[in-house]
Amino acid sequence: MTSDPTPTPATTSAAPADPLLAELLGLAREAGRRAGVLLRDGRPDDLAVAHTKTSAIDVVTEMDIAAEKLITGFLAEHRPDDGFLGEEGASSTGTSGVRWVVDPLDGTVNYLYGLPTWSVSIAAERDGETLVGVVEVPLRGETFHAVRGGGAWLDGGAGGGAGAVATDGAGRRLAVRPSPELGQALVGTGFGYLTDRRAHQAEVAHRLLPRVRDIRRGGSAAIDLCDVAAGRLDAYYERGLNPWDLAAGVLIAREAGALTGGRAGEPASGELTLAASPGLFGTLQGFLEESGAWHD
Ligand code: IPD
Ligand code: CA
Ligand code: CA
Repeated sequence: MTSDPTPTPATTSAAPADPLLAELLGLAREAGRRAGVLLRDGRPDDLAVAHTKTSAIDVVTEMDIAAEKLITGFLAEHRPDDGFLGEEGASSTGTSGVRWVVDPLDGTVNYLYGLPTWSVSIAAERDGETLVGVVEVPLRGETFHAVRGGGAWLDGGAGGGAGAVATDGAGRRLAVRPSPELGQALVGTGFGYLTDRRAHQAEVAHRLLPRVRDIRRGGSAAIDLCDVAAGRLDAYYERGLNPWDLAAGVLIAREAGALTGGRAGEPASGELTLAASPGLFGTLQGFLEESGAWHD
């Protein structure tokens, strides 16, 4: 159950006091930075689809695969006993209790088309609980990061968004926007790659659009969740996410003061992921329940 708000942490610094958390955060940030550079600078002009997965429009490029290899190789070099779950096939249990959950390129379709909204998402979890999350957004020059209980932080970027509230020289601490009424909310969402699923997702969006300020479909779930954290969206929801899409971003949103979850009483999951400023969460969750946003 993750829909309870994380109490506003007392910390005023992005640097965790716990040595394990500090190590995991440092490694995640460096792995994200390296993968971001590879993806940004190494994108071939003639980038093509390497293969497809769940449907003909669920694409993988050689760069997705290269980025996952870089990330898992770097992390395994420093922490050989950890487990991995990566979108492009990394899967191991490890013996340390820590597992890395990695989407090496979230927003592949944007990347394929040369659009800027794509990211690298890296989370470290223990006993199913996300401890650390990093979302690197190279073409914004931004790194979002959070450690459980330590607030959400943003390094780089040109500013903007209502949620960046303070600076301590090591990045800006993030906070969600003040909650609007549903009718004034800017809501992000996404659509899956399966025809039947997206047909129903379109019906839900069709019902929602007249009830809100507007809808955004950015194309990277990890960035959508960070945009809630940064006050650039009031809320985000999507059905059909995988653990690598949501692990880092949900922690970052929650640490910025968002409520996160799925159907009432459930944690964010493939069934439904929702992140929203606290005063909006319940209303939107109720709407998504009534609209059947949690099924195909
Ligand atoms: C996708 C993106 C997209 C979301 C899809 C995801 P990928 O991840 O996050 O925004 O709508 O559900 O699968 O395939 O680009 O890694
Ligand atoms: Ca993804
Ligand atoms: Ca991906």
